[in-house]
Amino acid sequence: MSASKLVAAARRARRNAHAAYSGFKVGAALETPTGLIITGCNVENATYGLTICAERVAMFKALSEGHRKFRRVAVVADTEAPTPPCGACRQILWEFGGDLEVILANLKRETGRHQLKDLLPLPFDARLL
Ligand code: THU
Repeated sequence: MSASKLVAAARRARRNAHAAYSGFKVGAALETPTGLIITGCNVENATYGLTICAERVAMFKALSEGHRKFRRVAVVADTEAPTPPCGACRQILWEFGGDLEVILANLKRETGRHQLKDLLPLPFDARLL
């Protein structure tokens, strides 16, 4: 599947973001090895701290639907500079997706591609338990 299809899915998911407090809408799209796409958007809460990012929504949706293997994730925000996953999302993406390719984009263009291992060097994971 082309990266642009995955980015387009993240852009569509972003429209569902509930970002009433920050106004910062984010969309994410995960791709499975068979080419299936599972999307997420950020969902904020009046307590602020219960906010959940688009990437974790996408991953938890995918896991809850039985998916266990992932190839890539696209993350979209309406910013000129790339919007990379936050630290908590990197940890969750690593736990369940391993060294995913992370494709960053805004509403018009791609803004970067990274391997998750480069965004989360020296990760804590099950191998250390
Ligand atoms: N956010 C995401 O959903 N993903 C990111 O990669 C960065 C931040 C959300 C959390 C919050 O709702 C808003 O963006 C501002 O931080």
